[in-house]
Amino acid sequence: MLGLETSCDETSAAVLAGDHGILGHVILSQDVHAIYGGVVPELAARAHLQKIDAVVAEALKQAGVELRDVDVFGVTAGPGLIGALLVGVCWMKAVAYGLGRPWVAVHHMEAHLFAASLEQADAQPPFVALLVSGGHTLLLHATEWGAYRLLGQTRDDAAGEAFDKVGKLLGLPYPGGPAIELLAEEGDASRHRLPRPMLRRNQRPEDVDYYDFSFSGLKTAVAELVRRLEAAGDLDDERANVAAAFQDAAVDVLATKTMRAVEQTGCSRVVLGGGVSANLALRGEISHRLETVGGFGNQEPRVFFASSRLSLDNGAMVARAARFRFDRGDVARLDGSASASLQFPGLVTTRS
Ligand code: KG4
Ligand code: ZN
Repeated sequence: MLGLETSCDETSAAVLAGDHGILGHVILSQDVHAIYGGVVPELAARAHLQKIDAVVAEALKQAGVELRDVDVFGVTAGPGLIGALLVGVCWMKAVAYGLGRPWVAVHHMEAHLFAASLEQADAQPPFVALLVSGGHTLLLHATEWGAYRLLGQTRDDAAGEAFDKVGKLLGLPYPGGPAIELLAEEGDASRHRLPRPMLRRNQRPEDVDYYDFSFSGLKTAVAELVRRLEAAGDLDDERANVAAAFQDAAVDVLATKTMRAVEQTGCSRVVLGGGVSANLALRGEISHRLETVGGFGNQEPRVFFASSRLSLDNGAMVARAARFRFDRGDVARLDGSASASLQFPGLVTTRS
């Protein structure tokens, strides 16, 4: 299985044998965006086009195989930046067609859901999943692979987007997430009290906002705080404290809603996925809160997450998701294409 990821600013390819064996894996992060403080879609597409051949060639070389040895091709078909997605999809369709092999269209967030299982074989449904990336924030109950119940999602900014925007407000480099995490280590979160949007302790499971998230208000609160500190000439001294307070607020909301899902579903296994799940404070908080939960049925409470490399965008998770879809007969057609807003396969939105 060859997995290819080009939905945003990572060009990545992986060769996967069976369910878990990554034979070759290359992740190339584009640096063309740094000076703009965010991903420029047109530049991302061009950079993918320039690098895709070399990235695939290197992954194949690591695996010690040739392109013609690949049985099935899997590629992220959405959601993401359409120009960037098209580079990967068109490349893969051409190669699959040329070699007479099937290709599989992969949903980027379903791929994130599979990432932990590449390294931890036990990361299998049923589980509650928190998927937190630059474009999405989803809280799911996965009863089996391919059957996902949507519990909550963001009403505005994604969690990663909030980290990126706050990073910008604090004058940190893009992407904001890792930079905030690093700075927050030196800070004291209790120095500033920031709001926990859409989180009230008296919410009940039947309330529409019980599981949903909102991060734009938090970002605005940080903007306001930064403006006040700057006017008073205190921003340099307070930057780490603001980073810590923001991270604390974001993690509190994410962890609290995840724990609500654990309690309501009776499912005490949690899978974290997406770039923000690389955050150690988030991992630590959810692990810590899970320790206070007694197991349900015969399940021990447990949290699964991938290594940092596989939490961020990568081709291996795409190959893994493609393998699952292929085994279910989900082979794409030659006229299939990329979609910036591809629907999550198997996701049902009913609450009960
Ligand atoms: O999954 P991902 O690599 O790409 C998308 O699918 O969007 O996630 C990227 C996002 C960015 O917003 C980045 O700031 C955030 O993940 N991120 C982090 C950390 N590492 C990456 N957020 C918080 N803490 C981190 N350590
Ligand atoms: Zn992603």
